[in-house]
Amino acid sequence: MILITGATGTIGGHVTRLLTGRGEPVRVLVRDPARAPAGAGVVRADYADPRSLAAAFDGVTAAFLATAFGPALPAHDLALVEAARAAGVKKVVKLSTIPVAATGGADPGAWHRPGERAVAAGGLAWTLLRPAGFASNSLAWAEAVRTGAPIPNFTGDGTHPVVDPRDVAAVAVAALTSPGHEGRSHDLTGPAMVSVPDQVATLARLLGRPLETVDVPAAAARDQMVAAGADPVLADLAASGWAMLRDGGSPGVTDTVPRILGRPAATYATWAADHLTAFTGN
Ligand SMILES: NC(=O)c1ccc[n+]([C@@H]2O[C@H](COP(=O)([O-])OP(=O)(O)OC[C@H]3O[C@@H](n4cnc5c(N)ncnc54)[C@H](OP(=O)(O)O)[C@@H]3O)[C@@H](O)[C@H]2O)c1
Repeated sequence: MILITGATGTIGGHVTRLLTGRGEPVRVLVRDPARAPAGAGVVRADYADPRSLAAAFDGVTAAFLATAFGPALPAHDLALVEAARAAGVKKVVKLSTIPVAATGGADPGAWHRPGERAVAAGGLAWTLLRPAGFASNSLAWAEAVRTGAPIPNFTGDGTHPVVDPRDVAAVAVAALTSPGHEGRSHDLTGPAMVSVPDQVATLARLLGRPLETVDVPAAAARDQMVAAGADPVLADLAASGWAMLRDGGSPGVTDTVPRILGRPAATYATWAADHLTAFTGN
């Protein structure tokens, strides 16, 4: 039995669909069973409730661990690893984030490090997935694109090896179901470095109409996030990441996705073409 956490989220959703499509025995851990993806066994649990986690991990052999980005992430990771260990799970695959060079600001990946250490110290077979920024983050621009408003650009001409979340999920499935990934950290990127203006130009080409961007410095973006109700600590970390990208501190392209999947990593253009209706509203 493979347990998928974060199954209502981006990567966990794709992982669940891939595994159920292959006929693997899958259970999803969700807070709201009504939102569980189809085709899997469902258990209601919350990362903040250890007793619910014990029930979710009972009888599980391999688990995909995905926790939401925010201040609770380290505690949630530790609770999941503890539940996996207590249940005798053989293998865990933890969704983390790609390491970045130190910039003097806060490390955008800092919340993942305690969970990474716990996974590696847990006495179970483990794999860390460390993806770059997801192509799907550009869904945040969908309303601006639909309404003709300028798209906010927090990272200037800084480039990043944006990865298709479907490739991250495909690597997760490989790590969950085949040998050779134990004790490995996989840095997962797309095939090319792209900037926000590059991504917007791709969308404009696919939509057949011009799109505009507006430059928003990281500090101003941070203030907007807080004004909109975001946790200030989360906003600080996000701003630190945007400043790092703007200053050219992004990690580079890796060959991990093609090496593991035996085919090229998907481009941003492929992801955008497959999700164009999100930007057109029809
Ligand atoms: N976005 C990026 O560019 C990027 C890049 C690298 C790494 N990452 C990492 O990817 C991870 C997020 O993955 P994602 O984007 O696939 O997820 P996501 O779409 O943000 O969804 C988060 C998932 O976690 C679940 N969840 C949150 N709190 C929970 C709780 N207390 N108990 C049970 N479930 C809970 C959510 O369930 P509900 O539906 O109930 O809320 C949802 O299924 C983060 O750790 C982030 O650091 C993201």
